[in-house]
Amino acid sequence: MPNYTLSERLAVAIDIAHEAGRMISRAREQQGFDHRYKDGHELVTDIDVEVDTFITQRLNSLFPGDGILSEELAPERDNIAQAKALWVIDPIDGTVNFAHGLRHVAVSIAWVEEGKARLGVVHAPFLQETFSAVEGGGAHCNSQPIRVSTEDQLARSLIGTGFPYRRESRQALLKRFTQVINECQDIRRNGSAALDLCDVACGRLDGYYESVSPWDFAAGWVIAQEAGASVSHLYPVPSGIPADLHGENLVVATPAIHSALEKLLRESDGE
Ligand code: IPD
Ligand code: CA
Ligand code: CA
Repeated sequence: MPNYTLSERLAVAIDIAHEAGRMISRAREQQGFDHRYKDGHELVTDIDVEVDTFITQRLNSLFPGDGILSEELAPERDNIAQAKALWVIDPIDGTVNFAHGLRHVAVSIAWVEEGKARLGVVHAPFLQETFSAVEGGGAHCNSQPIRVSTEDQLARSLIGTGFPYRRESRQALLKRFTQVINECQDIRRNGSAALDLCDVACGRLDGYYESVSPWDFAAGWVIAQEAGASVSHLYPVPSGIPADLHGENLVVATPAIHSALEKLLRESDGE
């Protein structure tokens, strides 16, 4: 297999994300797709599976030696810590938005080498925005450099977050929500973790916190960091799990408010 540079891998991932985006747009125009509920509560459409199949097949044929972690076709996480090279795919981040005709929908593709996320692409077909970054190369939206906001006061910060599908798991997050809504400018729940991270990256949001799966955040995590965001996990990452694939208790913010946001969230957890 040829030895691809990071930029070559990024270019391929962007092409694939654009093609996947066209599939998503066509599916919305045609409105013919079916849906069901995974595990009784998590919405998934035929298009999630079709787009995952397309991305997986393309990456497998181009990079046959690489592993794949993808939400619909290969979500098992048992061996991800050992993978030398791993593509991490969310074919549609924002499935509920997609099914309801809302526009916050993205294709998210990251490439992880020995546990370190090295590049990310988040493409939003209805917003016509493609966010991308490679480690050390800065972050871009539609090829223009992007940067986090310069906000330095929590009280003026706009914070993004999300909630799990399982309703029983939402209760515990309400204390955090109350604290953030009381202490910050306001909260947004836009329905795509990948785009929330990109919105921090380009300064539309000042911070973001949530617990998500690896495919929701791996690409946006690289993009946010390359745009200057500070990133952390509120609590220690369990040993043996690469931090870049551990989606629990993420806190991502412009540097001047990051530690204040962490403190607020810890206090609301009663820590
Ligand atoms: C969801 C979105 C949402 C987040 C959920 C995710 P999906 O991904 O990223 O913003 O709050 O936790 O599961 O199901 O639309 O791919
Ligand atoms: Ca997702
Ligand atoms: Ca998804």
